[in-house]
Amino acid sequence: MGTLDQDGKILVGKSDKPEYLTLAFGNRHGLITGATGTGKTVTLQVLAEGFSRAGVPVFAADIKGDLSGVAARGEAKPAFVERAKTMGYDYAPDQFPVVFWDLFGEQGHPIRATVHDLGPLLLTRMLDLNDVQEGVVNIAFKVVDEADGTADGVASDLIDLANLRELLAFLGQNAKDIGNRYGNVAPATIGAVQRQLLVIENQGGEKFFGLPSLDLTDFMATDAQGRGRINILAADKLMQSPRLYATFLLWLIAELFERLPEVGDLDKPKLVFFFDEAHLLFNEAPKALLDRIEQVVRLIRSKGVGIYFVTQNPLDVPDTVLAQLGNRVQHALRAFTPRDQKAVRSAAETFRPNPKLDTAQVITELGKGEALVSFLEGNGTPSMVERALIRPPSARIGPLTPQERQAILAASPFKGRYEKTAPHKSLTDLLSKAAGEAGEGEAPRPGRGGPGEGGAPVEQPGIGSRILGGIGAILSNPVVRQFGRSVAAVVARTATQEAMKRIGMSPASRRTAARSRRDDGFGLADIDRAADKLSSRPYGLVGDDGGDRGLFGTPQRPASRR
Ligand SMILES: Nc1ncnc2c1ncn2[C@@H]1O[C@H](COP(=O)(O)OP(=O)(O)OP(=O)(O)O)[C@@H](O)[C@H]1O
Ligand SMILES: [Mg+2]
Repeated sequence: MGTLDQDGKILVGKSDKPEYLTLAFGNRHGLITGATGTGKTVTLQVLAEGFSRAGVPVFAADIKGDLSGVAARGEAKPAFVERAKTMGYDYAPDQFPVVFWDLFGEQGHPIRATVHDLGPLLLTRMLDLNDVQEGVVNIAFKVVDEADGTADGVASDLIDLANLRELLAFLGQNAKDIGNRYGNVAPATIGAVQRQLLVIENQGGEKFFGLPSLDLTDFMATDAQGRGRINILAADKLMQSPRLYATFLLWLIAELFERLPEVGDLDKPKLVFFFDEAHLLFNEAPKALLDRIEQVVRLIRSKGVGIYFVTQNPLDVPDTVLAQLGNRVQHALRAFTPRDQKAVRSAAETFRPNPKLDTAQVITELGKGEALVSFLEGNGTPSMVERALIRPPSARIGPLTPQERQAILAASPFKGRYEKTAPHKSLTDLLSKAAGEAGEGEAPRPGRGGPGEGGAPVEQPGIGSRILGGIGAILSNPVVRQFGRSVAAVVARTATQEAMKRIGMSPASRRTAARSRRDDGFGLADIDRAADKLSSRPYGLVGDDGGDRGLFGTPQRPASRR
């Protein structure tokens, strides 16, 4: 088959020795950086091919369409044959099993989620809302959750953007009662949220919301030969709405985190996720969101998922996230201006130095398809940086033709599963129930599953939805804090009790959690501990940053990293 991978390792390129990515550290994340046209996408393809050969499914967004070629057999072009020869092997063309996805359902199977799945924090980000508007969204979710709890216990009535519109209109009509229960919902604020909703609708965002929602196991499949399927999200159109793009990928990560079981460290990842144009994720992201991203990245590796960010400069990625990206490929950066030069020096400093190399100097000298590389080795420490030639991919470089893409779609194992959207269902019933409750005018009742509610057990949302929009969002919301302090306390307490009960936390640990909640002001410590409880086996990680042992609770990274 012409693979030069060793047992448990993917051949990525060659310095004065072969450079391998160790599969057992594949879940310790990675970073591919470099100026435009230097070879990032090809490196991504080389890694994706390697993971696929090793039976590891992959997800990647295809921004320019040029990754789709991984589905087609490569051509033994003289340049590739030559490059392979200098690396000491014979070029062998190959092709890989690809599944195409597309939010708009045009170039792949549609991917959908419900508004409820997305959760308040990500919705806020998608709609670009301010703090006050975020408060309204949090209240909207709370109203639905409570009404749902009294109905079938299925928290999935909030499905599409039309439902969200209904809900916002309902909040407006019942502003007074709702205000008494949860905090102020000013009509002007609701109007502002509705206008932002229109922006997302105009960008085609309503296509993303609906049923059937994505079954993540479809992402984690291998083909008949045991090769990992490469899931490619057509993102050329999606990229025209960067916020939608970034929120959507973040939602996917959160879903994976929420749904997958804890597995600790495996001999190879269960899924590898490439996040291209990763700077979009971090640009202008509020601190609360950054904290959660950092946390999800940190925790998801014990679910066997590796996340590889692709962006121009390592400085696009916040330090706390950067510190967790163990496998690095740095392509050339330009150094024309003093500002460029500074960026190059900073990029160089993120590597473990090699006395043989002037890292900063080399970054500016690298040719196409050449890179500085450092992969985790031994007990999980980064190798010394090396200057390496990246191997040519075995499949085609560049896009498929539309006909080739259609042929793959027609033969897809998931054909027909997602193409038809379930019909829109109004929230009328649910909201009339909610109206009844809002009219009661008493102290808030405990949320579903809360103490004193002896009904049948309800569906338990996973920890991921809490991390990205649960307790933390409620607690951190300034509106809740400003306008409804006492009510907020009840809501928060209920939500916390609920969460603690679900994961079986003792009163003592609850008190500790409460204490640390005061400490960080975001309730993040709660979530940390909740996640801790969920992990079936605790393990100490010797992080690539050398000090990430305390996986939960207060971070123990060296101060210089913060
Ligand atoms: N490992 C490699 N082997 C052979 N050719 C390569 C390799 N890496 C890059 N190239 C050549 O360089 C070209 C540009 O690479 P690539 O498309 O990966 O750049 P990029 O960094 O993704 O650019 P952009 O930021 O514009 O997307 C490729 O089309 C290919 O011809
Ligand atoms: Mg590219």
